[in-house]
Amino acid sequence: MAEKIKLGIIGAGKISEVLHIPNAYFSEYVQLVAVSDKNEERLHFFKKKLNDERIHFYTEYHDMLQKEDIGAVVVALPNFLHAKVSLDALEMGKHVLVEKPMATNSQEASQMVQLAREKKKVLMTNHSQRFFPHHQRAKEIIDSGMIGEVRLVKTMFGHSGPESWSPTATWFFQKDSAMFGALGDLGVHKVDLIRYLTGLEIIECTAMINTLEKQGNVEDIASAVLKLSNGGFATLDANWITKGLEENYFVIYGEKGTLKIGQTNPSKIDIYLLKPTGLHGEITLKPLFTNEDPYWKMPVIDHFAKVCLGLEKPIVQPEDGMIAVKVVEKIFESSKKGGFVKVND
Ligand SMILES: NC(=O)c1ccc[n+]([C@@H]2O[C@H](COP(=O)([O-])OP(=O)(O)OC[C@H]3O[C@@H](n4cnc5c(N)ncnc54)[C@H](O)[C@@H]3O)[C@@H](O)[C@H]2O)c1
Repeated sequence: MAEKIKLGIIGAGKISEVLHIPNAYFSEYVQLVAVSDKNEERLHFFKKKLNDERIHFYTEYHDMLQKEDIGAVVVALPNFLHAKVSLDALEMGKHVLVEKPMATNSQEASQMVQLAREKKKVLMTNHSQRFFPHHQRAKEIIDSGMIGEVRLVKTMFGHSGPESWSPTATWFFQKDSAMFGALGDLGVHKVDLIRYLTGLEIIECTAMINTLEKQGNVEDIASAVLKLSNGGFATLDANWITKGLEENYFVIYGEKGTLKIGQTNPSKIDIYLLKPTGLHGEITLKPLFTNEDPYWKMPVIDHFAKVCLGLEKPIVQPEDGMIAVKVVEKIFESSKKGGFVKVND
């Protein structure tokens, strides 16, 4: 039987319901020991659902950290709590998987990275899109050189807004609790994916943001043009104003060909190559989950646990979460100032 890490989950909202709690409960590398949420109804919901006396429930995460013999935690809270709670857990010697965006600013993110290093603990941001099979496969194709050097990326993540995802979660619309709107919620995934898939850094940006529909004080539409470290460009759209479908695509125009991921079919990669002329290949990959599944069957928790147990190398490094926050911050800054902003100024 595999060695298991004892895990506590802090935040029992929607992402914990569809991803962290079921995946932790069923993982052969995890023993789910405790769940914490300030909302007692959410705790009651999971107590009933799991119906397992070995799992303890806490309204205060501090109590959970103090009383339970756990090696690792998942932090799945509103964005403004990510840094504070992760720092508390790291301070107490726990490995941390924190939700995206890792923090509400890059200074906080940097403190988290530093403390994890000092304490020699795993710190991973849940950049879940890295784990999608079509993104893993696209990375292999790009790394193989098949489409040559990356010239242009076009990516978008948009849907009608968090209210259709977690209906009671009004925190998404307030700067105090979320810091960013669609840019930090959805754009951060694509910022990270640009770096992950192309292996290039984002060095400069210019952007426009606005609030067209949502009540609150964060953006619901953001469009950015990014300069990549090889001189190529990326355009990124993140919004909560997309109706009738969820747009979640990534197109890469390379020196020798083009890859389209998620534009025609969510589980397909379309390949167009210059030579032999006219080759239009396609690769169909099994989706990780469908709407019929009760939860997202994603390997994030398994991977995190294996990294904590020293069985795998991390797919997401601590710095990756921090860089994603920094780029989002700079995109935001350029939209306020107008003009171009360098990421490392
Ligand atoms: N990686 C992904 O693919 C992905 C997908 C969706 C959401 N997320 C992220 O996950 C995080 C949580 O999002 P969600 O959709 O689950 O939100 P949610 O509002 O459904 O859940 C948040 C939970 O935190 C609890 N909470 C708030 N303050 C607390 C405190 N002080 N102590 C303990 N519990 C507290 C709330 O009661 C709620 O149950 C966000 O940062 C979001 O960006 C990531």
